[in-house]
Amino acid sequence: MKSYTLIAPAKINLYLEIVGDRVDGFHELVMILQSIELADRVTITPNQIPAFQVRCDRVELADEKQNLAYKAAQIMRQEFPEEFANWGGADILLEKQIPIAAGLAGGSTDAAAVLVGLNLIWNLGLTQPELQDLGAQLGSDVPFCLLGGTAIATGRGEILDPIISPHGLWVVLAKHENLAVSTPWAYQTYRQQFGHTYLKDASEMESRATQLHSSPLMEAIAHNDTVKIAQNLYNDLEKVVLPEYPQVQKLKESFQNASVLGTMMSGSGPTVFALCESRQEAERVKTKVATEMADAAIGFWITQLSGNGISIQ
Ligand code: C5P
Repeated sequence: MKSYTLIAPAKINLYLEIVGDRVDGFHELVMILQSIELADRVTITPNQIPAFQVRCDRVELADEKQNLAYKAAQIMRQEFPEEFANWGGADILLEKQIPIAAGLAGGSTDAAAVLVGLNLIWNLGLTQPELQDLGAQLGSDVPFCLLGGTAIATGRGEILDPIISPHGLWVVLAKHENLAVSTPWAYQTYRQQFGHTYLKDASEMESRATQLHSSPLMEAIAHNDTVKIAQNLYNDLEKVVLPEYPQVQKLKESFQNASVLGTMMSGSGPTVFALCESRQEAERVKTKVATEMADAAIGFWITQLSGNGISIQ
């Protein structure tokens, strides 16, 4: 049986609006999600034993049972018990490039890669929507990680409407290496502080998604107007994360001082990203922010937007 190495890209949020509460305890969101080329490598090797083993090059992820990649394998085992009984499990190697607990969907994209890999190894022939349904059981970002590119995401984030990806933008990412923001904390805090603004009515919530279609950001994406895209980035979670984590606020200000096209925290943070017109410009911004922040514990990455979800290497 063949082994597969998959490329699993990270994502950033170009837009994240929290519109209300859901009966399942999650939030109703309206987002624009965008894949970037910064990616993990996920190698899945059939092991012909009745178990999955996850190995990772980062000690923080040593507890394999907590890893979303392991949970993805377990879902496949439950859904396809015959294939598991016939072919056995797999050794899953995660080679991380995407920072952990960063708001970049690193865990979700590794899980998405496991779904794709086992679909291939067990020759299941699952379609993209079928994989996305399985992915939604693992986390709100997993369906998008499977699809990739650029998409409007609604519901919990799992209802996807793909749109044409912008091109010609470079991304500088920066994250304090020792800082992690809990996503449940960010959403709960948002509910405590802004719950009174939540829309109550399902049709009102739906109309928020419709309104996004005619927003300046969507218009900018449709015309590939990179300056306007960068000027219209939006993330509601900044309202709770930036006051609680002044280091993240400072990082964003430092990007603003470097005259980037636009800058925003991704997802629930703490990664801050900036959009630039060229690689050269991205390098200049990185050097300027690194010098201004003068903190060796801040990691920087330069990458581009990507049109891909999970792909075979
Ligand atoms: O779906 P995922 O496991 O990534 O979500 C992590 C946490 O983020 C959830 O437990 C929830 O607290 C919060 N969340 C939310 N509404 C969403 C997505 C996530 O409240 N649509």
